[in-house]
Amino acid sequence: MIIALNHKSNFTKDEILDYLKDYKKLNTNNHKMILIPSACYLSLMPNNIVFGSEDVSSKEMGAYTGEISAEAIKSLGATYTLINHSERNTKMNENLAISKQKLEKAFSSNLIPIICIGDTQEEHKSGIYVDKIKKDMDYLLSDIDKSKDFIIAYEPIFAIGTGLVPQNSDIERVTTMLKEIYQKEILYGGSANEDNIEELQKVKNIDGFLLGGISLKLHSLQKFFNKLQ
Ligand code: PGA
Repeated sequence: MIIALNHKSNFTKDEILDYLKDYKKLNTNNHKMILIPSACYLSLMPNNIVFGSEDVSSKEMGAYTGEISAEAIKSLGATYTLINHSERNTKMNENLAISKQKLEKAFSSNLIPIICIGDTQEEHKSGIYVDKIKKDMDYLLSDIDKSKDFIIAYEPIFAIGTGLVPQNSDIERVTTMLKEIYQKEILYGGSANEDNIEELQKVKNIDGFLLGGISLKLHSLQKFFNKLQ
């Protein structure tokens, strides 16, 4: 399985250095790990770990004060980048059009995008969520060669950081649709943790997990791996 760890805007420099020491000691049972720290710590990543960025600029290198270009991120040794994480959309006012520009920048800089896609609780309850996710994916990938390398992370927006995980059958409707259309690796994200991983890994068409909260606590992460098949 692929286990991607999204640190979000957490950790001071000393804290991430301590984390990295213990990270090496995790017994991950040969699952494929992707560490995704805050951008300011990308240059601290040792070269024996696989890592990615939480975001990239939608702009090329140049006069864009405060932006971090995909080219710069790639030059630090990152392999992956998250694209369209719902916190960029709901908390930083970015829309799908901006995410699409970022996706194109990731591809042109040879970063492998982990495309996050999700539904609101209202969309979920009304049953339109599978179609809505398909529509958003169609938009993001329009005019893009689908044979390019990318990963998809299904993250119900209401599940992120809330403990509100949808039923396995609901998750499976989305992961199966995504797998049939794109034939890529599909992750689930949204309150996945050491307590629900035994249940969540029964979902079909899941190739891994995108972990937020639990990714900060290595002792919980070790428990998660102990239960992961
Ligand atoms: P969570 O976050 O595991 O804390 O719900 C997941 C994510 O935002 O990718």
